[in-house]
Amino acid sequence: MSLILQHLAASVARAFLFFILSLSAPPWLLRQLIPAFYIIAGVSPTSIFLPCLSVCLPVPGMPTCLLCTCLGGSVYCDDVKLTSVPPLPKETTHFYGRYNHITKINKGDFAQMNKLKRIDLTANEISSIADDAFSGLPVLEELVLRENRVSQLPALPPMMTLIDASHNNIGATGIHKEAFKDMTGLLYLYLTDNHIDHLPVPLPDSLRSLHLQRNNIQMIHEDTFCNLKDFNYIRNALEDIRLDGNPINLSMTPQAYVCLPRVPIGAHI
Ligand SMILES: *[C@@H]1O[C@H](CO)[C@@H](O)[C@H](O)[C@H]1NC(C)=O
Repeated sequence: MSLILQHLAASVARAFLFFILSLSAPPWLLRQLIPAFYIIAGVSPTSIFLPCLSVCLPVPGMPTCLLCTCLGGSVYCDDVKLTSVPPLPKETTHFYGRYNHITKINKGDFAQMNKLKRIDLTANEISSIADDAFSGLPVLEELVLRENRVSQLPALPPMMTLIDASHNNIGATGIHKEAFKDMTGLLYLYLTDNHIDHLPVPLPDSLRSLHLQRNNIQMIHEDTFCNLKDFNYIRNALEDIRLDGNPINLSMTPQAYVCLPRVPIGAHI
């Protein structure tokens, strides 16, 4: 037992010394030194004390790339028991933090991440998101928040192409008014398995795929998909609409689908 403790203490001491030395090294050199760190410290990347490093040592980006895998601009932090978003290297373009225990997204978690294009936080425990946590990201295109406890979809920047907030708690007031209006490149909007009771309008013309299975939509207004002022309008791009599992009653709005290339999937009264 004491031998193990001795070994552990020596490992920690070596790791600490290595870090002190590496503080003065430039970032490119640090990345080259990561494998050396593992050997010197005598630990594996999944060792229990590494999660501590990302909190204990404030070298920007560096500890996260010990805990997670950093490849090019992609940072993979899947299933590493995160409870919050770790500090990310500035050059991150794709962040994967799936299968963790993150409960909250704070305003500063993604601040100044000017190259971040995709954030995937599938299967966490997120129930609260600061409304401006993502809105300042200049090149964000894809946000995946599947399988969380989100009740309010935060404000998002206009470059979005994919939004997936399926399997959450988004209800009647959970989506901002005209939330998708300025997203002129939006292609995929997935909001399956929530408690949504109306479709947020206007939907951008670019939209190809809209999944709203198992929500609480009862009525589709005639201007949700189509244009009451222009009966020649056809919403060509939108070929994939899933509305199954909603108590839709079209008797008040029989023209709701006239401009669609394909009738939405789902039972309609
Ligand atoms: C559908 O809506 C109409 C008009 O509001 C109503 O008369 C009808 O009973 C509804 N149908 C069902 C099955 O709820």
